[in-house]
Order: sequence, then structure tokens, then C-alpha cells
Amino acid sequence: MGKRVLVIYDSRTGNTEKLAQAVANGARKVPGVEVVLKRVREVTPDDVSSADAYAFGSPSHFGIMSGEILTMFTNLYPHRHILAGKPACVFTTGSGGQVTALENIERILGVFNPKWIKPGLAVEGAPKEKDLELAEKLGEKLAKVALQTT
Ligand SMILES: Cc1cc2nc3c(=O)[nH]c(=O)nc-3n(C[C@H](O)[C@H](O)[C@H](O)COP(=O)(O)O)c2cc1C
Repeated sequence: MGKRVLVIYDSRTGNTEKLAQAVANGARKVPGVEVVLKRVREVTPDDVSSADAYAFGSPSHFGIMSGEILTMFTNLYPHRHILAGKPACVFTTGSGGQVTALENIERILGVFNPKWIKPGLAVEGAPKEKDLELAEKLGEKLAKVALQTT
């Protein structure tokens, strides 16, 4: 049976959006996987509950995720069983503090007990060609694990 990968992201100036598109493109390479790519404010409860795997992308804001991504996790908390055991990964862009932000975002996502796809991706500034390649690989890995997860 096919699997659905949901790529959720926030982005103000486009850096994280570029990574999100690359993660989605990587996941699309895997046959049998459907990819839904959405900005966080457009994500519906049905998008979340119907997904088999998740990639969360956020700009690094104050060392963690953006407010909108944090609000999404806060709203999701009462329904956290939905994510439990499902493959999930994190990607972020920042201006120097992106590794700290990645660690903090992963710590918060850990509350939801996902099946970790690590390492996540922390990129400084606008993603370069090599960063986009790494993002594609991350999406591909996530999709492959989704297919193997019952
Ligand atoms: C309110 C705000 C807070 C930020 N805080 C951090 C931070 O703590 N660490 C860091 O590395 N970058 C920080 N940045 C920089 C952004 O993470 C960086 O420019 C990022 O690539 C923007 O992504 P976007 O283009 O997807 O919006 C901050 C930017 C804003 C607007």
C-alpha cells in the first residue's frame, strides 16, 4: 500500500521553503509514496492524521522553531498518539545558531515519540546546491522508511 509523506514548513524569507521543496522532491523519488508539501498555516488536521511520515522545517527563531510551528506542536499535543512510532525528521535554517535550533526542535518533537530519521539538517543562510542535495537525501530516506513502516 502507498504511503503519504507530509512536509510541513514555515518560512519568512524563503530559505527554509527551499529546503522544504528539496525534501519533498527527494521523497517523491520513492515509488509508492505520495508527498504533501504545505506551509504550516495551511496544514489541516486531516493532513496530519492521514500522513505516514513527517518532515518538519522551520527557520531558527530565538534558538528554537518559529512561533507558528510551535503553535502547531502545541495544538497537536493532545493528539500526540498520531505521530507516535511514525518516521519523522527536522530541518532548519539559521544565521549561525541553526545547530542549536535543530537540537532544540528535535527535543520538542521527541515529546511525540516519532521513529527518528536522523541526522536532521541545519543550514546556514540560503541553501546552496549541496544543502539542497542533502535535503533531497533526507526526504528520500524518510520516504523509504515510511514504506517499510507498518
Ligand atoms: C525573529 C527571528 C529570530 C531569529 N533567531 C535566530 C536564532 O536564534 N538563531 C539563528 O541562527 N538565526 C536566527 N534568525 C535568523 C533566521 O533563522 C534565518 O534568517 C533563517 O534562514 C530564515 O529562514 P526563512 O528564510 O525560511 O524565514 C532569526 C530570525 C528572526 C526573524
